[in-house]
Amino acid sequence: MAALPRPVGLVPTMGWLHAGHRSLIARSEAENASTVASLFVNPKQFNSVGDLARYPRDEARDLRIFAEEGTDLVFAPDVDEVYPPGFETTVSVGRLATVLEGAARPGHFDGVATVVSILFNLVGADVAYFGQKDAQQVMVISRMARDLGIATRVIPCPTVREQDGLALSSRNALLSPEARAAAPVVHRALRAAVGRYAAGERSADALRDTMRRVLATEPLADPEYVSVASLADDRELTELAGDVVPPALLSMAVRFGEIRLIDNERLG
Ligand code: PAJ
Repeated sequence: MAALPRPVGLVPTMGWLHAGHRSLIARSEAENASTVASLFVNPKQFNSVGDLARYPRDEARDLRIFAEEGTDLVFAPDVDEVYPPGFETTVSVGRLATVLEGAARPGHFDGVATVVSILFNLVGADVAYFGQKDAQQVMVISRMARDLGIATRVIPCPTVREQDGLALSSRNALLSPEARAAAPVVHRALRAAVGRYAAGERSADALRDTMRRVLATEPLADPEYVSVASLADDRELTELAGDVVPPALLSMAVRFGEIRLIDNERLG
């Protein structure tokens, strides 16, 4: 990888590529002399054997898409290459990794931070691109890179959505037709709260209530958490007023049967 012309951009993925991943690759290509993508379904960031086993995979298709997008190098290691026998280190990012997604999925962000720090070190990229769709992931990775003195710059990129508002996700492929039809309620709930904020509402409880009420209109949607948190440190907020907030992050995790979807919108 040392031979690639600099600057080098890195796009880490777990495959089953969609237009969200493509947007990250396009951004990296526009801003760098070389683009490296990784394709690795990281077992350490899954909370259950079932979720890992279910995760959709099609390496041949992914490699075709990387080639179509003009990726200069694809790093698609086996599990043993990333975690050889005797591997013992975990990168753990304090409190930020224990709230919201971290509370719902214990150990998830340790798995993410561990694999991303390995990727950053192996690739030695100048810049790395991540989707705002996984807003807390970007916060955790930025914190990790800053704390460990890793020189790779972390760039958050906008969420790509279907026409009906559903955020693209590899897990969407696992939704039943009924759940797929119901899933846009997640973005509708977020937009409803954005609308109330725009109309002057500053109580975080009122915004959480708006989101819950919209979700309740869809019987297949089973909310796990609904949050209004500070974008600086992911702490839950009570008031969105004064000069410490915004920016704030509206976020939620919602189950549709076995499949769990997350989404968010920024305020301010
Ligand atoms: P994965 O879910 O494959 O996502 C790879 C990258 O694509 C992440 O940065 C994610 O935020 C971004 N992404 C996903 N959906 C998106 C959308 N609709 N719009 C824009 N970007 C989107 O996230 C991971 O993999 C893993 O945790 C990883 C960072 C690769 C570490 O294993």
